[in-house]
Amino acid sequence: MGKITIDGIEVEVQDGINVIEAAKAADIHVPHFCYHPSLSVVGQCRMCLVEVEGMPKLQAGCATPVRDGMKINVWNERVDKARKGQMEFLLINHPLDCPICDKAGECPLQDYSFNYGSVTSRYGEFKRTYPGMDRTPIGPHVVQNMNRCIHCTRCIRFCAEITNTNELAFFKRGASTEVGVFAGVPLDNWMSACVTDVCPTGALTTREFRFESRVWNLDSTDSVCNGCDVGCNIFIGHRTGQLFRYRPRVNPDVNDHWLCDYGRFSYERYDTDRVVVPKVRTEDDYLGIATWSEALDAITNAFIDAKNVAMIASANMTNEEAAAAKAFADEVGANVLVMVDSIGPIKMKSRTEWLLGTQAAPNYRGVSRIVGEKSPEDLLTKGAEGIDVLYLCDAEFSDRAKDPAVIANLRKAKFLIVHSWDATHPLNDVADVVLPSTIHAEKDGTFVNLQDREQQISACYPPKGQALGDDEIFRRIQHALTEEREPAVSNA
Ligand code: SF4
Ligand code: SF4
Ligand code: FES
Repeated sequence: MGKITIDGIEVEVQDGINVIEAAKAADIHVPHFCYHPSLSVVGQCRMCLVEVEGMPKLQAGCATPVRDGMKINVWNERVDKARKGQMEFLLINHPLDCPICDKAGECPLQDYSFNYGSVTSRYGEFKRTYPGMDRTPIGPHVVQNMNRCIHCTRCIRFCAEITNTNELAFFKRGASTEVGVFAGVPLDNWMSACVTDVCPTGALTTREFRFESRVWNLDSTDSVCNGCDVGCNIFIGHRTGQLFRYRPRVNPDVNDHWLCDYGRFSYERYDTDRVVVPKVRTEDDYLGIATWSEALDAITNAFIDAKNVAMIASANMTNEEAAAAKAFADEVGANVLVMVDSIGPIKMKSRTEWLLGTQAAPNYRGVSRIVGEKSPEDLLTKGAEGIDVLYLCDAEFSDRAKDPAVIANLRKAKFLIVHSWDATHPLNDVADVVLPSTIHAEKDGTFVNLQDREQQISACYPPKGQALGDDEIFRRIQHALTEEREPAVSNA
């Protein structure tokens, strides 16, 4: 550890870290473009210039390690002048694009121009452009606008140092230098859209989110990806009950600054018709819309004489939902089963190690710890004959639940109850009661990831229609069953 002084504030920091990181200890931001804490240092943009007392020239903060006793000035007239000059250089060729650029509102180049740039430029006449390169798909998810690039190389270093796939490189020379892919080799690795996060301008954007919404019109909620058991930390971008995007939320111990493409765009699965009201099968075999009390009546009737009850929990449930399911199952004497599909594997890099996601759901570890590890394999393959009530906590408990043979086997139970959010799920059509349940973005709770880390997810907006969280559904059914068994005593 060493003591350094930054803009008159004395702080103790680890020896050898760079000035940008050290300044954070004094709560001082050093503007920078090319530096990224998880990529190599290249000292390329010169935006991070600082004054180090005793050194004649300004130094690049990203490439200057601190030593005990150093005195650094981030904000004084000399540094400010250099920073303004650097902004002027960077903007010589940058288009006046902010009004039609998707990065606007969260763009370091825009923010620094506004905060540290000069109001005027001495180079207003001619801007270099890259004809035909202003909306180039360079991979399945990434669209490039080369006119907006400031040649910081973050995207190139991401592909070289994190995914090791090297799809991106500089081509040509000098003022004509362009970032691009090699002929016939698109930017198509499993984390390709991360280049749009590291890009400090609107040069790289995702095909999925482009022009979908102005970022300042979105609300952002901290959550955890439910694509696999890595449990990457995310911000969910949403507005009025609609999901717009997932972005990485930095957690050095899990996903650092990254997300895989599968997880990042997995919110698209919720772009479907939702189950918004309960449905109950009538005596003439019609699955019709019902009220919650009609659905609860149908369920309590089914449980009255049921001797053999089975429940299939889901690795998509939160720990809290699993605990409510287990309490309910204990009350009705149900045998609880749970399974998880395998996936990938998906590689995700924390700051220090690679993690390997192998389960296609976020919380098998948490749920199985609460409800046990008995598998429903026999029900899926041999059938649910002899079961009086089969309770499926989530129509999505496995991809196999869409297989007609599996559906036919589950339907062999005398009475079938399903929690479902997807109105197109084929299990809905065969159930006796369908209960509208919440999606990931409508839940509060916790998941346990592959490192045994318990992580919080938060609801972005209220459930759609009459949907309820699984835990609330179990509470309502338990209440209805209690009333059925112990009817309120009338004093009349
Ligand atoms: S495309 Fe973006 S990340 Fe890549 S070099 Fe240009 S500005 Fe930097
Ligand atoms: S690695 Fe898993 S948890 Fe992380 S973003 Fe991908 S699917 Fe989501
Ligand atoms: S951040 Fe230091 S030179 Fe770019």
